[in-house]
Amino acid sequence: MATKLWEKNFSMTEEIERFTVGRDRELDLLLAESDVLGSMAHITMLESIGLLTADELQALLAELRQILATARAGQFVIEEGVEDVHSQVELMLTRRLGDMGKKIHSGRSRNDQVLLDLKLWTRRQLRQVVQMVQTLFTELVRQSERYREVLMPGYTHLQVAMPSSFGLWFGAHAESLCDDMLFLQAAYRMVNRNPLGSAAGYGSSFPLDRTMTTRLLGFDSMDYNVVYAQMGRGKMERNVAFALASVAATISKLAFDACMFSSQNFGFVRLPNECTTGSSIMPHKKNPDVFELTRAKCNKLQALPQQVTLIMNNLPTGYFRDLQIIKEVFLPAFAELTDCLQMSTYIIGRIEVNEHILDDPRYDLMFSVEEVNRLTAAGMPFRDAYRKVGLDIEAGRFQPVKQVHHTHEGSIGNLCNDRITALMDSLLEQFHFEQVEEAERQLAEGAG
Ligand code: ARG
Repeated sequence: MATKLWEKNFSMTEEIERFTVGRDRELDLLLAESDVLGSMAHITMLESIGLLTADELQALLAELRQILATARAGQFVIEEGVEDVHSQVELMLTRRLGDMGKKIHSGRSRNDQVLLDLKLWTRRQLRQVVQMVQTLFTELVRQSERYREVLMPGYTHLQVAMPSSFGLWFGAHAESLCDDMLFLQAAYRMVNRNPLGSAAGYGSSFPLDRTMTTRLLGFDSMDYNVVYAQMGRGKMERNVAFALASVAATISKLAFDACMFSSQNFGFVRLPNECTTGSSIMPHKKNPDVFELTRAKCNKLQALPQQVTLIMNNLPTGYFRDLQIIKEVFLPAFAELTDCLQMSTYIIGRIEVNEHILDDPRYDLMFSVEEVNRLTAAGMPFRDAYRKVGLDIEAGRFQPVKQVHHTHEGSIGNLCNDRITALMDSLLEQFHFEQVEEAERQLAEGAG
């Protein structure tokens, strides 16, 4: 098969080809749209530095627009014998335009092509993750406000400890997402820098206008040093993976809590019927499988940064084919996470809380500290109050007053959900997705 871009006068065996192409023909399909957009920016720049004529540019752009439409319609295919998305796009262009199609690769290498594709693709995926995290956050805050007055036991060591509330429980997971969002933002900013023009990792003797492609593609700035741009392969994925893992950890804990609290032995929350699954033998079962799967998937996602790290560990400077394998773990991670985000948001929004948990005397002792504090506020030294209440408990004399008066910031009576929401909003404001969207739109429509 003489369809390799780099093939000169020898053929390799099919087995070697199968091994080196690996899963690229399947995974690269995800990158098709980004690959075409990147080529549109690259050739627009090539024309500006005299490496394509205006007519050639228009003809190439028109074909690329068609390929873009095909990709967006989910109909892009990598043909039998073609090794990756980059080769496929170039093949389609040369088929339709002859030699003109071969000109688009001037000043480029598949190394910066795949770098760019991954960044454009990841940028879009991160946008979706950010929006879905925002939606889950909104549901959590809404539920926190709805159940702000409903007390529940707080646990340490999984032993009944002190009064907590559903306002606190839902709100805690919401605030956790704020910190995750900080990671997502750092990841996004790293992603949103242009590696195009680094070519094989050492630049080009053509006077490439990298500022122009940076603007055309809506990047904030570029990875300036061409050697560093290539070093970004794997580093970008690893840092994004850390952000995804951070979100996954939040969801995993939330899922575990929800499973546990919905068990009959707790009976704190009821999951919506349609979100539970039955048993093949026990007719009464309503199992929290969705949250169990969410928990496992999100735990698995937390291995992603380590997987990426180990794949590229200790590679020296420069491109290596090892980096291709990162796509196998990195690309599917987004759909896995967004699936979990979607499910969690749906269930959290419909979860119902048992407002009478504390009628059960097994939770009476969680009010012990309230009583100690009441005595202390009335003038008894804290240690004496602690001892008195302890002795009352031992003697079976303790009578809980099932009311709490917590007023400080972030406590049962003062959740600070408004401030947590302001924190999330201030993070969201800094993404500027609309600028990126507008640049991509102009590039695709040829208005740039
Ligand atoms: N499939 C390759 C990857 O993901 C594309 C780059 C190939 N470059 C090369 N020098 N073999 O890394």
